Amino acid sequence: MATGTSPKPASLTGFILHLHPRTVPADTIRFTLSFGLGGMSATLFLILLFTGILQLLSYSAAVDSAHQSIIEMYAAGSLAGFVRNIHHWAGNLLVIVCVLHLLRVYLTGAADRTRRLNWLIGICLLLLVLFANFTGYLLPWDQLAYWAVTIFTNMAGYVPLVGAWLSEVLRGGGEVGPTTLATFFAIHVGLVPSLMVILLIFHFWLIRKAGGLVRDQDLPLERISAMPALISREAAVGLGLTSLLLLFAALVDAPLADIANPGESPNPAKAAWYFLGLQELLLHLHPTFAICIIPLLMLALLALLPFITGTNLPPGIWCGGDNGWAHAAAAWGIGLGAAIPLIMLDDLVLKSADGPVRAVPWISRGLVPLAAIAAALWLVYRLLRRRRSSRPESVMILVMLIFGMLCGLTAAGVWLRGAGMALTLPL
Ligand code: HEM
Ligand code: HEM
Repeated sequence: MATGTSPKPASLTGFILHLHPRTVPADTIRFTLSFGLGGMSATLFLILLFTGILQLLSYSAAVDSAHQSIIEMYAAGSLAGFVRNIHHWAGNLLVIVCVLHLLRVYLTGAADRTRRLNWLIGICLLLLVLFANFTGYLLPWDQLAYWAVTIFTNMAGYVPLVGAWLSEVLRGGGEVGPTTLATFFAIHVGLVPSLMVILLIFHFWLIRKAGGLVRDQDLPLERISAMPALISREAAVGLGLTSLLLLFAALVDAPLADIANPGESPNPAKAAWYFLGLQELLLHLHPTFAICIIPLLMLALLALLPFITGTNLPPGIWCGGDNGWAHAAAAWGIGLGAAIPLIMLDDLVLKSADGPVRAVPWISRGLVPLAAIAAALWLVYRLLRRRRSSRPESVMILVMLIFGMLCGLTAAGVWLRGAGMALTLPL
């Protein structure tokens, strides 16, 4: 006769419950703490895995058949086109949701001592999401894909010392061609998703190890059962997002241009939207600064943010409390608003009057603007500190200013650049 409790049969509910602790602090399941953005990223990733695997049934990764295989996905009676739409929109949405998740983590003071390893893992995840989108972008082998990848791999060529090697490795040769498509396909369906799965397991484990989400330590600790309180909320966010995505994918087809033609570049030839901020920067600054020094500096600062003493916002409270959120929103708005006039000033006035240092472009278009931006940010910081803003709040305002500028550069690249990359009005 069996003694003790017999093991329960495995079930989906059991698996989901095992991903969570038995109880969670009641205040951490408040929707307005996380806005469910981590859960949304996880949902989108699962959708991408599922629709990606389904697409393997109809997609062909060879230059003479890739474009045709996509056209055939939209044949009457086939669901493959709908699956492609879902995959395309989910991939693009994941970039936005991931960036918003990063912002919420920072603005609720969750990039603290106990969670900074997870912050670094998160940054690797964001880079992988961008890389997955970038490699996926080439697969339809249309004019958009071919030229966006040509432009990006050209941009990589500007990295000092290793640039030529880097763009050749990315292309698998001198030009974007059959080897590039085969390499991107292997990286897209094999390497990137595998790395993401490994990092995500680590990401979730570290959240549990930190005792759940960040919380305001001044609130009384009341623990409630994760089932149903947390799980039902997660299900609502996941199912709500999935329904909206399916609806959108049913109404709006993913773009598909004519088959790639290496002999005829579209005008304007643009990178994918998430790299348009970089492409815009390249129109103003020396390539080494636009493609290498400034992005690496920003990435390093972002990664190191939780390691710089005195920059962490109070835990579990948005933007440090009081009017913090209004200051953060204003800083973002000013950054966004300042980017467009600065772009116009450079295009319409400064480019034609670089002055005596014009002969040395890495000074006039590199060191000088970088020093001017750094000095302006330092001045803003000193001013805020003098007006008795705390150190974490002053740093937050700088972060939001820079983020606003990045959004402004991207918006200008998407809407304000026309033929020959000249400034135009959006139609
Ligand atoms: C595919 C990408 C990602 C997925 C699927 C993901 C998933 C999640 C989930 C489900 C949570 C818990 C719930 C929530 O906070 O909403 C979480 C928390 C967290 N994530 Fe992510 N994440 C991703 C990217 C990132 C990025 C880009 C960062 C930052 C650089 C990041 C940093 C963190 C941190 C520090 C926490 C703990 C927050 C806290 O304790 O309050 N994650 N993530
Ligand atoms: C984070 C994960 C992923 C992201 C962000 C992503 C993103 C993308 C994007 C943006 C495209 C281009 C879609 C288009 O405009 O046509 C694409 C294409 C494709 N992806 Fe993914 N993907 C991911 C994971 C996967 C996985 C796991 C697979 C398969 C195992 C996969 C298979 C494919 C295939 C076959 C295509 C070519 C068909 C097409 O262009 O629609 N993807 N992906």
